[in-house]
Amino acid sequence: MVCFRFSPVPGSGLVLLCLVLGAVSSYALELNLTDSGKATCLYAKWQMNFTIRYETTSKSYKTVTVSDLSTATYNGSTCGEDQNGPKIAVQFGSGFSWVVNFTKEGSTYSIDGISFSYNISDNTTFPDAKDKGILTVYDPVRFRIPLNNIFRCNSLSTLEKDDVVQYYWDVHVQAFVQNGTVSTKEFLCEKDRTSTTVAPITPTTTPAPTTTPIPKEKPEVGSYSVNNSNGTCLLATMGLQLNVTYEKVASIININPNTTDFTGNCHPQSALLRLNSSNIKFLDFVFAVKNENRFYLKEVNISMYLVNGSVFSIANNNLSYWDAPLGSSYMCNKEQTVSVSGAFQINTFDLRVQPFNVMEGKYSTAEECSADSDLNFLIPVAVGVALGFLIIVVFISYMIGRRKSRTGYQSV
Ligand SMILES: *[C@@H]1O[C@H](CO)[C@@H](O)[C@H](O)[C@H]1NC(C)=O
Ligand SMILES: *[C@@H]1O[C@H](CO)[C@@H](O)[C@H](O)[C@H]1NC(C)=O
Ligand SMILES: *[C@@H]1O[C@H](CO)[C@@H](O)[C@H](O)[C@H]1NC(C)=O
Ligand SMILES: *[C@@H]1O[C@H](CO)[C@@H](O)[C@H](O)[C@H]1NC(C)=O
Ligand SMILES: *[C@@H]1O[C@H](CO)[C@@H](O)[C@H](O)[C@H]1NC(C)=O
Ligand SMILES: *[C@@H]1O[C@H](CO)[C@@H](O)[C@H](O)[C@H]1NC(C)=O
Ligand SMILES: *[C@@H]1O[C@H](CO)[C@@H](O)[C@H](O)[C@H]1NC(C)=O
Ligand SMILES: *[C@@H]1O[C@H](CO)[C@@H](O)[C@H](O)[C@H]1NC(C)=O
Ligand SMILES: *[C@@H]1O[C@H](CO)[C@@H](O)[C@H](O)[C@H]1NC(C)=O
Ligand SMILES: *[C@@H]1O[C@H](CO)[C@@H](O)[C@H](O)[C@H]1NC(C)=O
Ligand SMILES: *[C@@H]1O[C@H](CO)[C@@H](O)[C@H](O)[C@H]1NC(C)=O
Ligand SMILES: *[C@@H]1O[C@H](CO)[C@@H](O)[C@H](O)[C@H]1NC(C)=O
Repeated sequence: MVCFRFSPVPGSGLVLLCLVLGAVSSYALELNLTDSGKATCLYAKWQMNFTIRYETTSKSYKTVTVSDLSTATYNGSTCGEDQNGPKIAVQFGSGFSWVVNFTKEGSTYSIDGISFSYNISDNTTFPDAKDKGILTVYDPVRFRIPLNNIFRCNSLSTLEKDDVVQYYWDVHVQAFVQNGTVSTKEFLCEKDRTSTTVAPITPTTTPAPTTTPIPKEKPEVGSYSVNNSNGTCLLATMGLQLNVTYEKVASIININPNTTDFTGNCHPQSALLRLNSSNIKFLDFVFAVKNENRFYLKEVNISMYLVNGSVFSIANNNLSYWDAPLGSSYMCNKEQTVSVSGAFQINTFDLRVQPFNVMEGKYSTAEECSADSDLNFLIPVAVGVALGFLIIVVFISYMIGRRKSRTGYQSV
């Protein structure tokens, strides 16, 4: 098989064009669904085949392989409307039907499940089958993918359920395509990741491995607050970007304040701000008082679902960030990093927090981080320049005054 790799339309992602030499052994399916405005809303290109085991009338078992997908039609595929999400429906061969559906949750979308049906009554494909009728297997897949990322899995994936084994490879799929442009950001399946992180044995000659692209955009700034019986007792305004390293791959997740809930509590010596969203079970910021006159961020706990469905949890109660006097707020407009562990960091943007002594729901005066004071260096410079100028003016006046008085003496 000879493959050419090219990118015909900017932003359409890599398209593999394969010239299959010799027997057609596999058939790549491709679907480019457009919405009413002719903008691409779902894109998929993949290969698959199936083996099905069935019982015969003579109580023995037979296995058939279904790999000829050249007759595939895509009736029923949709980008989804209000009630139903997007789905890809494929029909092929003698009554085979394959459907995958997608759902959107917050800033991610999921490949929800794959359903495969076959007509075992068809005695040319399933000779001597004991059963009759349409049989269906359903596999909940629940792959989570960040929105505006194309899922890629070149490696072979196998789904085994009841009597059916499904094989998938060279998978590229993006649902909820934004602005009609298939993303160039690839979200790799675990097997592709490990093959790219393990692959470079001679790093000097091989090109850099393609890892998950990271969103470079700044996270949106959210405003969070906690109330007690006396009103607002904790205020926080910040853009949050999580950096999770899992199996050697760093994922950058921006927290979308629109889809994030917050709660918390306030005590005299400690305060808690807890965020949660569809993929974050909880993200806790625990503040404490030290020396009875300052507060700081003491503890961060997180438990979140990763794209592959596993749960990532980290806690550190020995931190020391965002330190400021009680009765004031802490502010840092520059990007700052809270390093919770080697595998988990939080990048903060346009941060302002006040976990104690909030008066009338408003921030008190801010103590700024040292990074921000880079901006303020202009003030001393300006003062210095002004002072220097003043000295020069005074000196010149003095010289002129001296000359005047000298001429005065001469005239006498
Ligand atoms: C999908 O179809 C649209 C409209 O026909 C086209 O503009 C776009 O380039 C196609 N995308 C891919 C990846 O084939
Ligand atoms: C089905 O796919 C697997 C994985 O690519 C391959 O090993 C196998 O030969 C294929 N079967 C057929 C009948 O093409
Ligand atoms: C798919 O739709 C086409 C035309 O819309 C139709 O001719 C064909 O019979 C349909 N195929 C199936 C399997 O429903
Ligand atoms: C996806 O399809 C399966 C079965 O076909 C169904 O049970 C499930 O509810 C569907 N999910 C969504 C979100 O439509
Ligand atoms: C299943 O196959 C049998 C035999 O070919 C056929 O009579 C029947 O209509 C098929 N069922 C469906 C739902 O296509
Ligand atoms: C398939 O079934 C039909 C009747 O349903 C029968 O006439 C035919 O001989 C069968 N073919 C095979 C290959 O078993
Ligand atoms: C889609 O278009 C809107 C408005 O033109 C823009 O704000 C947004 O960033 C675009 N999204 C993507 C993923 O290109
Ligand atoms: C509310 O304010 C009063 C008076 O300042 C104070 O005594 C009380 O402890 C506060 N209650 C809470 C829950 O903070
Ligand atoms: C907290 O109380 C203020 C008024 O004191 C109210 O405006 C605000 O909505 C409350 N916030 C929450 C999160 O309950
Ligand atoms: C994420 O963390 C990794 C490992 O600590 C680090 O190398 C990388 O620069 C971080 N990325 C960002 C955007 O903070
Ligand atoms: C959050 O909501 C605001 C206003 O409704 C909107 O302008 C913004 O684009 C939303 N942000 C995200 C990341 O969805
Ligand atoms: C946050 O957690 C609460 C309580 O567990 C839950 O009701 C809510 O739906 C969650 N919020 C989001 C955005 O998932």
